[in-house]
Amino acid sequence: MTQLPTVPVTSEVPALAAFAERVTALVASGLDEQALTAAVRDDLERTLAEGFELPPDKTRPDPERYVMYPLHVAADGSFSIASAVWNVGQGTPVHGHETWGVVGIHSGTEVETRFEKPAQPDVPLVELGTDEWTAGQVTVCCTTDDDVHQVRCGGDVPVVGIHVYGADIGTLPRRSYDPETGAVHWFTSTWARSGGEDR
Ligand SMILES: [Fe+2]
Repeated sequence: MTQLPTVPVTSEVPALAAFAERVTALVASGLDEQALTAAVRDDLERTLAEGFELPPDKTRPDPERYVMYPLHVAADGSFSIASAVWNVGQGTPVHGHETWGVVGIHSGTEVETRFEKPAQPDVPLVELGTDEWTAGQVTVCCTTDDDVHQVRCGGDVPVVGIHVYGADIGTLPRRSYDPETGAVHWFTSTWARSGGEDR
């Protein structure tokens, strides 16, 4: 499985650039994933509560599929922040992340169904429940050992989320699952282009 090279990105939104600086310090502090994701969750909650606008080219849905626009990609690939946009009716397969992740909703409603991470291949997945997340809410979606879910847009407007991951998520090979059989397919959810950038 070939991993694409990381190209660093810095957000033009001051609140997000400042958030990224704080996440940089948290990542460098050597916290374990549980403590790190809790701290990132609390910070993202405050950042969303203070309010910021996302540029239109970072919230534009794609008619074909959900998209992830890079807001910040650390030069060393240690974390990334995405604006993830699901249009009405769009969703993901059941998938994993192979790293930690924190998701905060900027606008719209996300519906998340969680699954146990299978301990062995080719067994049906165990569903853990479904939650709805709305603007301002933040959830720890993933730690490396508990990272399997399916996400879709709820409601009748697109959902825009701020997703923070412990890797360059636009280059990271990860798993999708057939929940009926446990069959695994490896994929990379590459970064969407928003115009005016070279990736
Ligand atoms: Fe996900």
